[in-house]
Order: sequence, then C-alpha cells, then structure tokens
Amino acid sequence: MQRILSGIKHTGQLTLGNYIGALKNFPKFQDEGEPFIFIADLHALTLPIEPETLRTNCRDLAAFYLAAGLDPKKTTMFLQSHVSAHAELNAILQNYLYMGELSRMTQFKEKSLQLNENAIGLGLFAYPVLMAADILLYDANIVPVGEDQTQHVEIARDLVTRFNNRYGKILTMPKAVITKVGARVMSLSDPTKKMSKSDPKGDIYLKDDLKVIRKKIMTAVTDSEAIVKYDPENKPGISNLLAIYASLKEISVADAEKEFAGANYGTFKTKVADIVVEKIGALQERYHAALASGEVDKVLAEGALKAAKVANVTLKRVQTAVGIL
Ligand code: TYM
Repeated sequence: MQRILSGIKHTGQLTLGNYIGALKNFPKFQDEGEPFIFIADLHALTLPIEPETLRTNCRDLAAFYLAAGLDPKKTTMFLQSHVSAHAELNAILQNYLYMGELSRMTQFKEKSLQLNENAIGLGLFAYPVLMAADILLYDANIVPVGEDQTQHVEIARDLVTRFNNRYGKILTMPKAVITKVGARVMSLSDPTKKMSKSDPKGDIYLKDDLKVIRKKIMTAVTDSEAIVKYDPENKPGISNLLAIYASLKEISVADAEKEFAGANYGTFKTKVADIVVEKIGALQERYHAALASGEVDKVLAEGALKAAKVANVTLKRVQTAVGIL
C-alpha cells in the first residue's frame, strides 16, 4: 500500500496556485493508497503571524481540505502541532542536514530577503528539517506538491540516504509527485513570477469574490501577438492561462491550445474566467458548508490520533537506531 503525504502552510490567503498545484490533486490519491494530509501550522510560525490569524487559518484550511473532496474516512487529516512526533523527529534529524545545504535553499533565500537581516528566525533556516520529519514519519512513498517544493523533497531524500547509510534501512525514500499541468501557476500581473500569497492583483485567492476573480483574469497581462499558443518563454501570460484552463478542465495543454486555435484573447480569457469561476465557486460553497457543519475540529482531533499511531512507530525506530534508550 502506497503512503501519500502532503501539507499546506496557510500563512496568508490560499491561492489558485495552491489549488491547482496541490489541493485539487490530493483527493485523487484516496483510492490509490493511504493519504496523510496535514496543516503545517508549525511551519506557519516561521514567518511572523498573529495568533488569531493562525487559529483561523488552520480551521479554514481544514474546511478547504474537506471542500476539495478529502474524505476523513479515507484520508488522515490533522494539524502538524497535534502530533508531537513531528517536533521530536525534527530534533533528531536536524543533526543530519548541514548548514551549507540549508543555506542554499531557494525558499530560504527568497523569504529571508523579506525580513530584517537580524531577525531571521532559526525555524525559517531549518524549515526543510521539519519538512523532512513530516514526510519521513509516515514512511511516505509519494509526496504530491507544486514545483516550488521539489527542492525540499530532494533534501529530504538526501537525508534518507545519509541516515540509512549510517544506521541501516530505517527511513523510507520519498518521491515528489508533480502535477503535469499547472505545477507552477504564475502571477496574472507578472507571469514571469510564481503566484504566491502576497500580490493581490496577480493572485487569485480561493476566497475572492467571484466577480473579482473574473476581473483579475480579464485584466491578466498577456502580449500583443493575438495567438493562443503555449510558449512559456515568449508568451508567459497566455501560457499561464492555458495551463490554468487545461488543469481545471482536466485536459492536456495541447488540447486546450487546439480548442482556442484562431480565438481572440477576449474570447479566450472569458472561457478561462468561466471555468475558474465555476470550479472556485463550487469549492467556496462546499467550504462554507464544511465550516458551518462544525465538523472541522472533530475531524482534526480524530486525524491527530490516527496520525500519531503511525508517526510514533517511526519515531521509536529512529530513536532506537541512533541509540536513544
Ligand atoms: P505551501 O503552503 O507554500 O504551498 C502548498 C502547496 O501549494 C503548492 N503551490 C503551488 N503550486 C503551483 N503553482 C503555484 N503558484 C503554487 N504555489 C504553491 C506548493 O508547491 C505546495 O505543494 N513547505 C510546504 C508545506 C509542507 C509540506 C510538508 C508539503 C510542510 N511540510 C511535507 C509536503 C510535505 C509549503 O510551504 O507549501
């Protein structure tokens, strides 16, 4: 049985990038293996966040997990902080990743630029260690993530090799699985940059009003060539919209391209807006229903118990391997 593990760190607004690159793909694994999908609340503390925001975001993300189609009977859904094995394994594994390799992580370099040089938390630097602990605790074979997280999965793989060379076959080698279409959704206002959580004009937020979503797509930056073609280097705006369309329609980019052969940009953008509004609109309805059901806290509490059972077995194996009595 394959073990699948992934998580999202809900620090600001969830974006269409989070949805296409990760959230939308999680339920597909429910019938293919044993998924563990968690909320990375300890990771959310690596950048300044208000306590109330963190609390709200965690429930919010759990409701989005349910809205995306995760079924608590098939998927173990939980908060990272509720399973203490994450922090305990982190404390051991931090000795098996080195400062040189951590300082080369793109995410660390990007995020630390946003902070005052004297106030870069150790947690931000050591972020990949905790992420490796998240993955390795569940003996995950498959880690579905967007492209920006592959470097973190790679460093977890390096850690497994290093650890197992020293102690024997203790840890399971994970593999990042990246969606074929939409692995890197770009900003609508600057399609050479990734859609992140910090650019209200270029990002589509999952909680945006549907009218606002439509407007953002209709005013997305494109080019003056007037040909709908997938060419990320020369036509980043159009290529991004094509990828968004193809991903939400569950078709290939080539098929999406064929569909819009000869279409003008106005028609093309309207069709992209239609599908985004349809999918996000439905997601929002299910999200509100999930929040209103009052089930979220219960689902997370039950998930944490199930997750802890699995995680504690791995933790014990690692503790024994390194010599902890
Ligand atoms: P996070 O919260 O930044 O993003 C959550 C997921 O969304 C994907 N994603 C995107 N995919 C396509 N296009 C985009 N523009 C885009 N933006 C974000 C991310 O690749 C990710 O899959 N470190 C993780 C959370 C984490 C984790 C883990 C993930 C902690 N421990 C263990 C997997 C396994 C993060 O910050 O993702």
